[in-house]
Amino acid sequence: MIRVFSSRLQWDSNPNPLSILLGKKRREGAAILDLTESNPTRAGLHYPAAEIIGALADPCVLNHDPQPRGLFSARQAVSEYYARRGVEVPPSRILLTASTSEAYSYLFKLLANPGDEILVPRPSYPLFDYLGAMESVNVRPYPLRYDGSWHIDFSALATAITPRTRALVVVNPNNPTGSFLKRAEWERLQTFGLPILSDEVFSDFALAPDPDRVPTLAGSNGVLIFAMSGLSKVAGLPQMKLGWIVAGGPGHETALEGLEWIADTFLSVSTPIQLALPRILAASGVVEEQIRTQTRANLDHLITQTMGSPCRCLTVEGGWYAALEVPRIHSEEDWVLHLLAQKDVLVQPGFFYDFEAEAFLVLSLLTPPVTFEHGVARILDAMTALT
Ligand SMILES: Cc1ncc(COP(=O)(O)O)c(C=O)c1O
Repeated sequence: MIRVFSSRLQWDSNPNPLSILLGKKRREGAAILDLTESNPTRAGLHYPAAEIIGALADPCVLNHDPQPRGLFSARQAVSEYYARRGVEVPPSRILLTASTSEAYSYLFKLLANPGDEILVPRPSYPLFDYLGAMESVNVRPYPLRYDGSWHIDFSALATAITPRTRALVVVNPNNPTGSFLKRAEWERLQTFGLPILSDEVFSDFALAPDPDRVPTLAGSNGVLIFAMSGLSKVAGLPQMKLGWIVAGGPGHETALEGLEWIADTFLSVSTPIQLALPRILAASGVVEEQIRTQTRANLDHLITQTMGSPCRCLTVEGGWYAALEVPRIHSEEDWVLHLLAQKDVLVQPGFFYDFEAEAFLVLSLLTPPVTFEHGVARILDAMTALT
């Protein structure tokens, strides 16, 4: 038989047991407490609507001025975003993309040939396998280990590197472990001499200060680095479709030329959002503060409620998620199915994020607090009844 489709799309598209049960529950009209909500526009936040809508209504949206790296005014706005965080990044080191996901795809295209390897943390963001497959790149995990806080396992990382390794991804802070890169880790990472892709979409969402942490690699010069972020998390506006890459370190000018070439092929960032970016970033603090308050309140609640319970909340330093260790008397899948079937509570199993061992549940701290509190109460009820 003649093959019609490329082998990039060979994954199992059958619904998993959790999505089957969720579909059934929704059809039955169950009032589900969704503790996986990571869409900020559904998290009960108040957006500066007039400012955002006004920013998008610029008459200049009627002009087409194709700039592969992005309009200077928009890159200047990103530069000012970093300046407000005490980091100096000139607009010439910034390239705009339609999202952080697109930034990954550009960087994989730039750095890796088909069959080359990119190292990604584990547990981490579940999209890596898909992003890699789309570029015919193999993503290989390097483990993070937990001993009260999360650390990179450097000896496992060293053995994961092969002659085909082209770059190393750090997610800072990581999703869903909420762990930031520490100064000593950053020093060691640079000794591998690999280009570093630093996913910093959650870096504004630290839960407490820590001088040991590296909040961003933008502005670093030791090795070739690409810091990525975007409006999706920074301003809680994933639908605006704007992200960016900051390049730095040896060879960054050549890297930016390559990225410009790639971006010129697609010109995917729309003009209205580029024109609106200065005002949207200037107004983003309002939503950022609400997200910080909401995630912190939910985490505090989870920590207090799990004390003396059969569950343990792992340390969270930042980001929008918490991992809850639950008794291993059931598999993660059984736990999440049981919680949905019996308690109408939706949570994610750790294996969605490639946790090395069972049993962990992942909860979104962005969930509206009332839903979060009721959901946690039902989870703890179920745990107490079944253990
Ligand atoms: C770690 C991480 N990186 C990137 C993204 C995607 O960001 P964007 O919407 O800019 O593609 C997400 C979305 O949840 C994420 O969790």
